Amino acid sequence: MPSPRIGVIGATGAVGAVTLELLRARGHDNVRVFASSRSAGRELDGRLVEEATPELLEAAELDLALFSVGTSASRELVPHAVRGGAVVVDKSAAYRLEPGIPLVVPEVNGERALEHTGIIANPNCCTIPLTTVLKPLHEAAGLRRIRVATYQSVSGAGASAMERLRAEASGEHDLRMDWDFDGEEFDEESKLREETRKIMELPELPVSATCVRVPVLVGHSEAVWLETEEPLTAEQARALLGAAPSVRLDDVPSPAKAAGLDEVLVGRIRPDRSADNGLALFLACDNLRKGAALNAIQIAELLLRREAVAA
Ligand SMILES: NC(=O)c1ccc[n+]([C@@H]2O[C@H](COP(=O)([O-])OP(=O)(O)OC[C@H]3O[C@@H](n4cnc5c(N)ncnc54)[C@H](OP(=O)(O)O)[C@@H]3O)[C@@H](O)[C@H]2O)c1
Repeated sequence: MPSPRIGVIGATGAVGAVTLELLRARGHDNVRVFASSRSAGRELDGRLVEEATPELLEAAELDLALFSVGTSASRELVPHAVRGGAVVVDKSAAYRLEPGIPLVVPEVNGERALEHTGIIANPNCCTIPLTTVLKPLHEAAGLRRIRVATYQSVSGAGASAMERLRAEASGEHDLRMDWDFDGEEFDEESKLREETRKIMELPELPVSATCVRVPVLVGHSEAVWLETEEPLTAEQARALLGAAPSVRLDDVPSPAKAAGLDEVLVGRIRPDRSADNGLALFLACDNLRKGAALNAIQIAELLLRREAVAA
């Protein structure tokens, strides 16, 4: 098969940089890089950055377009890449909850990617590790309820937020909740609930989330309390997770341990005696890799393997 023509749109950003690193490491070399007019003309990873205009994306003859440009730019540009013949994997929130658009974590619902009509949405950086861990537990015992508290790194808010943290004196570090507030909860919390329901295909699953930004550069962590329909011991859960794809057991997961890894670290698996059939666990994941760039590339590779992209 000829090497697929891949466009990375948002290549100068936090997720774009990791996307380029992973594409290179995984042997994809027919790659063009795009960003806004601010970066057009710059050299990046040995390539010239092109401005992602609607006209250029329609004419670019890409097989795959990996977008990480933010929600409003995705809404504007993605349809043009699709019109130009590319299959798009979009990492923004623009299409995730749209009916008919697959929202995919390959280890959880990879087959859904094959139902695409041009766009596949990549989930939020907390939803990906959460569903990766929930899937084997659900298959074994049926999920009844999820409660989750997140500890999200600043790289989840992009390259400029990383620069701000680097420039901050350590005495200024604080917890933040820098998401849109709808009067009841932050949109990050509703995304975690709605995306988890869509990916797990459990539209009524009770999910309660509290999301918090912590002064860590890379690596999102989550404390998870879950209840199952059938009893599941901590030992059984540990065995299931130890055998699950893209999951690695670690006694005490942390963002520093997870940064740079492809797998989701999960540990502190224990009974939650405050609930019937309750379990508690802690996970950590590199939000720029499995939480974003890697998951999107895995979707693209799944499509290429199944010849669902005309390369
Ligand atoms: N960071 C994460 O952990 C994470 C995880 C999952 C999903 N995401 C999603 O991925 C997207 C990007 O996140 P990020 O963290 O990489 O952000 P970022 O560091 O701020 O980078 C944004 C990128 O988008 C480009 N861009 C912005 N507006 C554009 C436009 N109108 N046309 C073309 N390119 C444009 C920027 O180009 P310039 O350099 O030219 O400005 C830059 O390359 C967001 O939708 C975010 O929600 C991020």
